[in-house]
Amino acid sequence: MIPPFIDLSVHHKPGGLSDRIAFGFTKALRWCADTFFAERYGHRAVVLETVAAVPGMVGATINHLACLRRMCDDKGWIKTLMDEAENERMHLMTFIEISKPTLFERAVIMGVQWVFYLFFFGLYLVSPKTAHRVVGYFEEEAVISYTHYLAEIDQGRSANVPAPAIAKRYWGLPDNAMLRDVVLVVRADEAHHRDVNHGFANELAGLPVAEPAACPPHHALEPNWKKAA
Ligand SMILES: [Fe+2]
Ligand SMILES: [Fe+2]
Repeated sequence: MIPPFIDLSVHHKPGGLSDRIAFGFTKALRWCADTFFAERYGHRAVVLETVAAVPGMVGATINHLACLRRMCDDKGWIKTLMDEAENERMHLMTFIEISKPTLFERAVIMGVQWVFYLFFFGLYLVSPKTAHRVVGYFEEEAVISYTHYLAEIDQGRSANVPAPAIAKRYWGLPDNAMLRDVVLVVRADEAHHRDVNHGFANELAGLPVAEPAACPPHHALEPNWKKAA
């Protein structure tokens, strides 16, 4: 499977105070991640995907509740955000097969989840536009990080191991797929999230919304309860 073409150079130029806060916050977190992980891309992916899977579910929850209260249509936002959360969780389930987090990293994940979930929930209530812009900028950084990961693999600093079975099923990759193929489809997912979230922020700001980068096809995994029936 050839991953969809993605434009690596997409960057939303911060256009106001809300954008500048979102961009500054993202750059501060990028610095923390670079300092903490350096070139350990497998560990970086596992820890950061536990964070990346939070905003979609928060956005979906808050929009769901708002639509119930206002008895209005969601214009497809809730499903899009839930799909994003599931997709990020599948990134996590894939990379956990490649790198196992250390005990310290597991402790960091638990602490960060509490802080980030509450922070992002509060931010989304106060300014959904800023919240989606933050995610758009996070995803710009994710595209850059996975591009670095590809370079690490291509230059032999990270082993190009066989793709985990879960990744082959989820993205419909061939039997002989390797880690490099997985990173390519994950990066395409991140580019899609990047454009969708900048698009949502633009829509809330009354700005033009561009067509998002195409998303690679995903195959939902059969639920265990169905298998048992
Ligand atoms: Fe991700
Ligand atoms: Fe993402």
